[in-house]
Amino acid sequence: MVNKEEYYKYIINNYKVHDIVIEYGKGTYLYDNNKKKYLDLTSGIGVNSLGYCDEEFVEELKNQLSKISHTSNLFINENTVEAAKLLVQLSKMDKVFFSNSGAESNECAIKIARKYSYDKYGFGRDKILTLKNSFHGRTLTTLKATGQEKFHKYFYPFPEGFIYGEANNIENILSKLNKNNVCAIIVEPIQGEGGVLPLSCEFVTKLKKVCNERDIILIFDEVQCGIGRTGKMFAFENFDVTPDIVTLAKGLGGGVPIGAVICNEKTSGVFKYGDHGSTYGGNPLVTTAAKYVLSKVSNTKFLNEINEKSLYLINSLKEIKSDNIVEIRGMGLMVGIEVRGNVNEYIDKAIEKGVLLLSAGNNTIRLLPPLTITMNELKKAISVLKEIL
Ligand SMILES: Cc1ncc(COP(=O)(O)O)c(C=O)c1O
Repeated sequence: MVNKEEYYKYIINNYKVHDIVIEYGKGTYLYDNNKKKYLDLTSGIGVNSLGYCDEEFVEELKNQLSKISHTSNLFINENTVEAAKLLVQLSKMDKVFFSNSGAESNECAIKIARKYSYDKYGFGRDKILTLKNSFHGRTLTTLKATGQEKFHKYFYPFPEGFIYGEANNIENILSKLNKNNVCAIIVEPIQGEGGVLPLSCEFVTKLKKVCNERDIILIFDEVQCGIGRTGKMFAFENFDVTPDIVTLAKGLGGGVPIGAVICNEKTSGVFKYGDHGSTYGGNPLVTTAAKYVLSKVSNTKFLNEINEKSLYLINSLKEIKSDNIVEIRGMGLMVGIEVRGNVNEYIDKAIEKGVLLLSAGNNTIRLLPPLTITMNELKKAISVLKEIL
């Protein structure tokens, strides 16, 4: 039987793991090897959007596995086309590139933005502006894109060409653009890892206007906040603007690794034959999962329920009287509770009581439950949160 000693013996020690061996999951619950049951408000960091082992999802994947799981992108497969078509129809954008993860989606978006600018303006307009406190991935380029100093250590040299501006401060952003060398701005509509910090509508509207005026590609990193998480199919819908590129991963596959880059008409023709690629990207197995997730989440009733659950969750949390709570914030089922004291201690207490939570930033409890969580499960989670806070 696997134990923590073997985990540390065989796996490189780069994660802070809980002392729990998960054996299986069903719905919103996870079960460990001692048969202890946990109400899961982490959804594998925003991945298991439909919870665990949704029966139809499992059936669809089994069927696909018995037909074909992988072909490479040298051949056409129906699932890949259908998943892309769904993404295009739902976003009202133009075309999709499939990757395997959030970081790869962002890498791809950065390449598209740089090539768009190079094709049109030549050398020298290659800077990417990202926001302070952002998180965009763990590859060297997306680490550098991440606007947090603590990620820019050890792995020198990092790729060049990134500058950082302040979220919700359009004057600050404008001051970074006066050298006319910026080709793209990347933002998370809600900063996830940074502490569940939504951008303001006013800021996003102004950002879009500035990008249009200066022909700067606006990229929304919706890796964590896309695909129903905010109560809309795409987070950008909350802000009434459509970016030039949207990057996705996590919840899109409901548990299998898939990423996607959706482009509008301005950016969809930038890559030509040979400019980019991915061996696995959008293979028939993972696009079966994405098709299933997209068809479930895009249902109006499903989205309405996310909004009802969100309202209940946020209001109930705001009613908790505790000096340990600094602020409740978020959108949909992406909610942050900024706390006083050590966030990990609250998380450990919740685990003892059978509830799994995430942290974000320095001092925020982050809730990312499966989108399918029920009202009763939410009630249970809230009562445990009340106790530990
Ligand atoms: C906003 C955002 N972008 C990118 C990433 C990187 O995604 P991945 O770990 O799939 O590469 C993450 C992961 O947490 C994220 O939250």
